[in-house]
Amino acid sequence: MGIVVLDFGGQYAHLIANRLRRLNVWAEIRPPDTPVDELRHADGLILSGGPASVFADDRPPFEVSILDSGLPILGLCYGHHLLCQHLGGRVERGDRMEFGGAALRVNSATGVLAGLQASESVWMSHRDLVQGLPEGFEILASTSDCPVAAMGDDRRHIYGLQFHPEVTHTESGMKVFENFIELCGCTRDWTMENFIELETERLRRQTEGRKVFLLVSGGVDSTVAFLLLNRALGEDRVLGLHIDNGFMRKGETALVKRLLNESGFTNLEVVDASTEFLARVEGVAEPELKRRHIGEEFIEVRDRELARLNLDPEEWLLGQGTLYTDTIESGGTDHAEVIKTHHNRVGVIEQLLSEGKVVEPLAQLYKDEVRALGETLGVPHHLVWRHPFPGPGLAVRCLCADGDIIQAASTNGAVDAGQLASIKDQALKGTGLALDVLPLRSVGVQGDGRTYAHPAVLTLGDPAAFYPGEAGAATWDDLERVSTDLTNSTPGINRVLFQLGPQKRMDQRLCEGFLTRNRLDLLREADAIVMDALDGHALMAQVTQMPTVLVPLSSDGQAESIVLRPITTDDFMTARFDRLPTAFLKEVTEAILGLEGVEAVYYDVTHKPPGTVEWE
Ligand code: XMP
Repeated sequence: MGIVVLDFGGQYAHLIANRLRRLNVWAEIRPPDTPVDELRHADGLILSGGPASVFADDRPPFEVSILDSGLPILGLCYGHHLLCQHLGGRVERGDRMEFGGAALRVNSATGVLAGLQASESVWMSHRDLVQGLPEGFEILASTSDCPVAAMGDDRRHIYGLQFHPEVTHTESGMKVFENFIELCGCTRDWTMENFIELETERLRRQTEGRKVFLLVSGGVDSTVAFLLLNRALGEDRVLGLHIDNGFMRKGETALVKRLLNESGFTNLEVVDASTEFLARVEGVAEPELKRRHIGEEFIEVRDRELARLNLDPEEWLLGQGTLYTDTIESGGTDHAEVIKTHHNRVGVIEQLLSEGKVVEPLAQLYKDEVRALGETLGVPHHLVWRHPFPGPGLAVRCLCADGDIIQAASTNGAVDAGQLASIKDQALKGTGLALDVLPLRSVGVQGDGRTYAHPAVLTLGDPAAFYPGEAGAATWDDLERVSTDLTNSTPGINRVLFQLGPQKRMDQRLCEGFLTRNRLDLLREADAIVMDALDGHALMAQVTQMPTVLVPLSSDGQAESIVLRPITTDDFMTARFDRLPTAFLKEVTEAILGLEGVEAVYYDVTHKPPGTVEWE
């Protein structure tokens, strides 16, 4: 039943199963050397792409006999080369990479290409290429650089594609998968309830005779994992621990408790460690040092709680809300290259994994599927759709300063004053905008490196209207253009803000500020205003993430400033700032300015790069 994806380690391999499941067909990912006997239950097989070459000595092992299994097979990129090589065609080492978009000429819109246009946009990423067809195959499509971009044997239902139908840049990718599942005779009736049934059985088998301990942060993944484990194993075999580190959002801990209580669970321990965390970062302003202290404190609190709860490690397995994407990015499938190491895959956990002591109920799922699963398990809609929240929480959104004044524009050699003057003349002409550089720094990313530089702030002099996009106010296009010009051409500036309120530029200076309960409470209030407004204006799902940042900039040494940072992104490596509607901006600005302790609200109009999503 369903489709098995043999994973040769391709960057996009993880998307294939996701795409199929969106078509209501169950798909599972298995290692490429899975014995053919274990694949007989499948309706069809997909051979994924991968970083190896079919000519490499260290290519992944593969059961060639599956090609004679009689099952329909679709090979993608490396899988396409494998099919060709083993079925008697000719693969050649390409002399250069073909990477990115390509125009596909469809010669024969049959088999998996049925219904495609004569010309289609597809996504390529390869070096080797098929030059000679195996017997029984015909060329279905080509590109200018790739003579056999698609080949098929309609009789045996075996197809090979050089391009990647699983990425969204291949416009008809979903159509290709629909064609394949039809050829396989799959019934399109797979649902989340089916997943819950299968996963419940698997969890019971894996944990037989043992119990599971899970950290529950309050984020979607750990909450859903906890609910699923409870449902599968029963409350007395699961224990959750929630650590309140003092950097949570407003009401977060209470929300986690309430949600689980309402669901009838009493097996959650909550520990308030905020005093210890705040003590650990007292007087610390430097961003990296803050993070390090918080990370270390987290481990200490967790270990202390484990000891206090007296859990026998032989009896208690470690539960994690790891998603499939976390595994693939860490090179966690056998043949993938490491892209970045995720915190769920650090050394000590790898060790537990190899001993079979880690339980990961969401490891086959993607974020959108976890959200669907959460809804099925009855997690309230607004919780399921909450934005991702960084591990160190509001600590990285509460900027600190130790009173050492960072001069903008003049000293430190930070901002090139000459460049700034000339860019002011050119970029601002005709926009009605004035520009200042702020005397603080935030993190950004340019090229492959991290920057730590100044934000510039744009203000309108005496506007007829104020919020960007309103008639008579600055246009979003102007703000985007000025932001890009400024950050591209002025060393020392890595972000650009627009002042939403008050409507007059203020003379602000950097003042002293650390991670204190008062400042965190103020930030919690501002963040809650923003989150409620996103909900109220039905923008929560459209905006990917929206940090609210407290910065110690003040005209009177008392009231500080808030920055809004809404972004949209697919992968967090690059992001665009959002253009939010006037009604939202007005409501949020007025409410935040109404908080005692806030004197200004800024809106971050910087893409990533050059700005990161978070400010530090
Ligand atoms: P940046 O700021 O690097 O953020 O553009 C990209 C994404 O990563 C999240 N982020 C973190 N998540 N621990 C986390 O769990 C961290 O230390 C951390 N720093 C950034 C950020 O919120 C965004 O989603």
